Amino acid sequence: MEYERQYEQYRLAVEEYLNGLFTGSAAYGRLYEAMRYSVLAGGKRIRPVLTLEFARLGGADWRTALPYACALELVHNYSLIHDDLPCMDDDDLRRGKPTNHKVYGETLAILAGDALQPEAFRLIAQAPGLSAESRIAAAEVLAKAAGADGMVGGQVLDTLHHPSAQDELTEVHHLKTGAMIAGACMLGVGAAGGSEAARKAAEDYGYQLGLAFQIRDDMLDVIGNADEFGKPIGSDKDEGKVTYVDRLGLDDCGKLIHELTEQAVSAVSDLDQDGFLTALAESLERILVEHFGPRIEVVARRIAAVENMAEIGITVAGFDLRNQAALLVERPAFEDHRVERFVVGGRVDVHVGKRRGDQLRSGETLIEEFAPAQFIDEVFGNHLARAV
Ligand code: IPE
Ligand code: IPE
Ligand code: MG
Ligand code: MG
Ligand code: MG
Repeated sequence: MEYERQYEQYRLAVEEYLNGLFTGSAAYGRLYEAMRYSVLAGGKRIRPVLTLEFARLGGADWRTALPYACALELVHNYSLIHDDLPCMDDDDLRRGKPTNHKVYGETLAILAGDALQPEAFRLIAQAPGLSAESRIAAAEVLAKAAGADGMVGGQVLDTLHHPSAQDELTEVHHLKTGAMIAGACMLGVGAAGGSEAARKAAEDYGYQLGLAFQIRDDMLDVIGNADEFGKPIGSDKDEGKVTYVDRLGLDDCGKLIHELTEQAVSAVSDLDQDGFLTALAESLERILVEHFGPRIEVVARRIAAVENMAEIGITVAGFDLRNQAALLVERPAFEDHRVERFVVGGRVDVHVGKRRGDQLRSGETLIEEFAPAQFIDEVFGNHLARAV
């Protein structure tokens, strides 16, 4: 099954499962309401989807892994409720809606987060069709991913230790984001009773993906758009945080994400028969481009040695533009232009040549004629908008 359809199938199953939780009536019913408010607010469900896919790859009926997948998603949601609190990142917007404490007040937001944690372990303990050994192991995986030596440890470093060197930032990302994503992958292997080799592959994939994911999140916090991102832009700066973007710059962050994505993909090369994990990792890299779209920049204008050639350097951090080469030549507006070369990477060099009648245009004239802003918009803008 193609990637998008499979993702949607997983996502809907997760929504349905989560929607069945915390529905009873009680004197403290507003607690349920606050929990459901965040849990059902439209998260992307990347982590539970990973659990389900690793379970499927391990030969299980992926539906049996839903309690594990959703348990981790509950913990993820608690972490976000607390992460947004005034004493943490102090954010007002999450998934395009007011944050939990903005709607329910700090007391209930904290308590809703508190409640989501044990409820997660209840889902694991009660998971139908999974052995006691598997459930105990899953509880341990989730506890490690979310606990003092995992996500919470990372949050402590992030909020209280002012990390600024690149290795410090890597450690924070590894713990606060990588641990939960790797945990999601390992829970899937556990649900399928997978081998140690599969567990290791899942862990490696999750950590590489997690690091890429958080670097990308930090980039979007700078260059994103709050409407699309669903959370405030500039939150990290406002909190005085140093991020990968400060350390490496946007371009090199994009390159690093590309490398990490490749490493993640290679960690599961023996496992990922249908390419779902590869497609997921690559789609996360592409989301960046969705946000980058309007911000593609011409970074260099150089005239190539050959007189009728123009070389235009365009930065689209972290996106592999191989497919765009074909697109470029196909577009009628450029049919009288010759595309000579595309260099793939964070930086793309497009060489175009043009003839009009017998007259060769100089590179300079070409660049002017191309009007870089319009060129980029036409060639990349539309396509990137469609690619997402
Ligand atoms: C947000 O995670 C927190 C980070 C680790 C950056 P997601 O981007 O997966 O959040 P939702 O669940 O889809 O909203
Ligand atoms: C925190 O990272 C991830 C968690 C462990 C909750 P961020 O603070 O960057 O996440 P966002 O940007 O608020 O989603
Ligand atoms: Mg935070
Ligand atoms: Mg935050
Ligand atoms: Mg962030």
